[in-house]
Amino acid sequence: MKNISFISPFCDLLKALTSTSILDRAKKKEIVNYNFLDLFSFSEDIHRRIDDYPFGGGDGMILQAQPIFSAFESITKISDKRRVVFPTPDGKKLDMKLSLDLSEAEDIIFICGHYKGVDQRVRDELVTDEVSIGDYILTGGELPACVITDTIVRLIPGVINNINSAKTDSFYGDLLDHAHYTRPDVFRDLKVPDVLLSGNHKEIDKWKLKNRIEKTKIRRLDLYKKYLKNNNKVE
Ligand code: ADE
Repeated sequence: MKNISFISPFCDLLKALTSTSILDRAKKKEIVNYNFLDLFSFSEDIHRRIDDYPFGGGDGMILQAQPIFSAFESITKISDKRRVVFPTPDGKKLDMKLSLDLSEAEDIIFICGHYKGVDQRVRDELVTDEVSIGDYILTGGELPACVITDTIVRLIPGVINNINSAKTDSFYGDLLDHAHYTRPDVFRDLKVPDVLLSGNHKEIDKWKLKNRIEKTKIRRLDLYKKYLKNNNKVE
């Protein structure tokens, strides 16, 4: 069983997000276990403070090293195959390659930053992966930690019933996903492409691939060029 721990001052948010949908299903199937470490309860300060002003001045408060180190050290059983993830806008941009890589760890520990940042000694001594979920700023590390958790957990064998579904997701290969339709075949005069109703699986696969290629070419030229290169194709 994979252990995913969250060190955070706002565990309620993490508990809410991990107790729904696929993340909850993975827990119920005993494939993952979530562990929440409330930063305030690890503070040695008499007022349970977890942040302080930055040395050298500047705006914003900095999360102190002590509560984070204490929370981290309270996790007794940590395997060698562990990853300690610090979500931060100046980290490595998350993509499927990084998700697949992280999904192989036995223990994943998220350190959720807040305020202006965390004491650099946490990043230097504890963190193995600094990860950004995109070029925008969120108020804390909880939402990125849940985004990263979601992409990791759905890749663990047994979590999703139909792994083929995950394999055709956008970004699993180089191409974006194709269009999907379900019943009824005509809705407000809008018809499903005939080929999808034909029962001819060879033709259906051809249509799906064509749809993925066209969509990728229009929306993500960078991926489209990668696809051509990896498949030894020229335009
Ligand atoms: N914390 C704040 N913004 C973030 C982002 N874009 N990615 C990861 N962590 C963050």
